[in-house]
Amino acid sequence: MKAVLASGYGAPEVLSVQDVEKPKPKNNEILIKVKAASINSGDVRMRALDGGDGLKGLVSRIIIRLLVGLTKPKRIPGSVLAGEVVEVGEDVTRFNAGDEVYAMAGFSFGAYSEYCALPDKRAIALKPKKASFEEASSIPFGGNTAMYFLRKAGASKGKKVLIYGSTGAVGASAVQVAKYLGAVVTAVSGPDGMKLTKKLGASKVYNYKETAIEEINDKFDVVFDAVGKITKSKAKHLIAEGGQYITVDSLDVAKESSSDLVELAKMFDSSKLVATIDKTFTLDEIVEANRYVDTGRKKGSVVITI
Ligand SMILES: NC(=O)c1ccc[n+]([C@@H]2O[C@H](COP(=O)([O-])OP(=O)(O)OC[C@H]3O[C@@H](n4cnc5c(N)ncnc54)[C@H](OP(=O)(O)O)[C@@H]3O)[C@@H](O)[C@H]2O)c1
Repeated sequence: MKAVLASGYGAPEVLSVQDVEKPKPKNNEILIKVKAASINSGDVRMRALDGGDGLKGLVSRIIIRLLVGLTKPKRIPGSVLAGEVVEVGEDVTRFNAGDEVYAMAGFSFGAYSEYCALPDKRAIALKPKKASFEEASSIPFGGNTAMYFLRKAGASKGKKVLIYGSTGAVGASAVQVAKYLGAVVTAVSGPDGMKLTKKLGASKVYNYKETAIEEINDKFDVVFDAVGKITKSKAKHLIAEGGQYITVDSLDVAKESSSDLVELAKMFDSSKLVATIDKTFTLDEIVEANRYVDTGRKKGSVVITI
């Protein structure tokens, strides 16, 4: 089968499509014929061994080398996929051959491939019925992250929530998830993302090129930095008494959860969530697709069809 392999950590050019052996599912695994996979900020950071700045970055780089491979990733990369179950191991009870699923592969990886074997304990659920495989693969990374952080910060009915950075995979999901949780959403995006942010459900959108964060004169129950660009001290004046500031740029890592995927599928099928796909590439265009994600300017998700 065709799959992407990495010759080391680094620029997109470390990736290439090669012929490899098709995986055989173990007793606790399902084998998925992958139809689409998303390329997320997490994937490109892993590829580039980019753990961020300072001590946190150093610790992250050491952890990645220990878990993923000392000199190069040992596994086929790619962490989010959608496809059809074609085989199940004998201990698997959650899924059957023929199920259309979407999944977060976690440290099993293997999404950039024609077939992927995943332990059934991973975050896997039936994909939204109304979603194409491409749409389904675009949902989990941002959706799961947004649900994790917004719930943790207490976003709920009637709360005022500010989403800082509303156009990345996490931000575009966060606007919709906060609204779904019953919050009133204000957002900050760049000029190119204002129309999209409104469409996703924000009541008010600030353009960060026109209004500096210090100039926003309002208070929120939850300030969620969905791009890791504002510190708590910069956002202090925006936090209402008893309110919460939460950021993706922390040591806290969103827990990947099957139940969140089930809920996101329900949201999609009841038109409470839309898939935001910026560009679609083929598996053979993996280098070009990674270059695009590396710009840090994508709106929503980048997807490869397989
Ligand atoms: N802790 C966790 O568990 C966790 C989980 C997932 C992701 N993350 C982190 O969360 C961050 C966001 O992830 P993502 O996948 O959503 O990234 P992404 O899709 O690559 O984000 C790109 C978006 O960010 C916007 N942006 C860039 N600079 C901005 C700024 N200064 N202010 C506002 N918006 C800005 C861009 O819009 P413009 O071009 O219009 O500015 C673009 O739409 C990443 O750093 C990722 O590592 C953490």
